[in-house]
Amino acid sequence: MITVLLAIAAYLIGSISFAVVVSKAYGLSDPRTYGSGNPGATNVLRSGNKGAAIWTLIGDAFKGWLAVWLTIHFADRLGVGDDTIALVAIAVFLGHLWPLFFRFQGGKGVATALGVLLALNVWLGLATLATWLIVAYAFRYSSLAALIASLFAPFYYGLLFGVEPQLFAVAAMSALLIWRHAKNIGNLMAGKESRIGSKGKGAD
Ligand code: G3P
Repeated sequence: MITVLLAIAAYLIGSISFAVVVSKAYGLSDPRTYGSGNPGATNVLRSGNKGAAIWTLIGDAFKGWLAVWLTIHFADRLGVGDDTIALVAIAVFLGHLWPLFFRFQGGKGVATALGVLLALNVWLGLATLATWLIVAYAFRYSSLAALIASLFAPFYYGLLFGVEPQLFAVAAMSALLIWRHAKNIGNLMAGKESRIGSKGKGAD
C-alpha cells in the first residue's frame, strides 16, 4: 500500500510542468505554442529568455531528484526497498511525460531523468550529465545529447551497481525518453533539427 501511495505522490510531483509554470511567472508565452511545442528547458530557451530556461531545467530536475531522494532517505522508516525506489523513479518520470495537471501533455523527460539519476547516485547523474555536455558541446544539438546520454545511463548504472530494480527503471526511462524524441530523430536524420540556442522550429 505504501508503495502505491509513494508512486502516486511521485507521479503528482512529476506532473508539475516547470516549463509552463516558469514561463507564466516570467510573462512569456506558453512553450507549447512555439518552437518545438515541447514544455522543456530547450524549448523555453527558444523564447530568448535564458533565465526562464535555466529555472525550467532546475525545476524539472529538482522534482525528479526530490521524489527519489525522499524515498531513498526514508526507505528504512517506511519499510520499503529497491522495488519501491525503482517504481517512484518511473512514476515521477511518467508524471513529467503525461502530467495530470496539464491535460497529459508533458515533456520529453531529459531534465527530470537527470534529477532521478542524481538522486539514485550522484556519480551516475554526473557521468550522464557529462555525456550530455560532451555531445552538446560537440554537436550543438540538445536532443542528440539527450539521446546519447540516455543510451549510456543504463550502462553506467550496471557498471556501478550491477543488476537491481533501479537498473530496469533507468532502462525504462531511457527507452521512453528515446521514444519521445522520435520527431527529433527524424529531424536529425533529415538535417532539420535546430541547434541549441537557435530559435528554429525544432521538433515536437
Ligand atoms: O529536452 C528535450 C530536448 O532533448 C529536445 O527538445 O524542444 O528541441 O524538441 P526540443
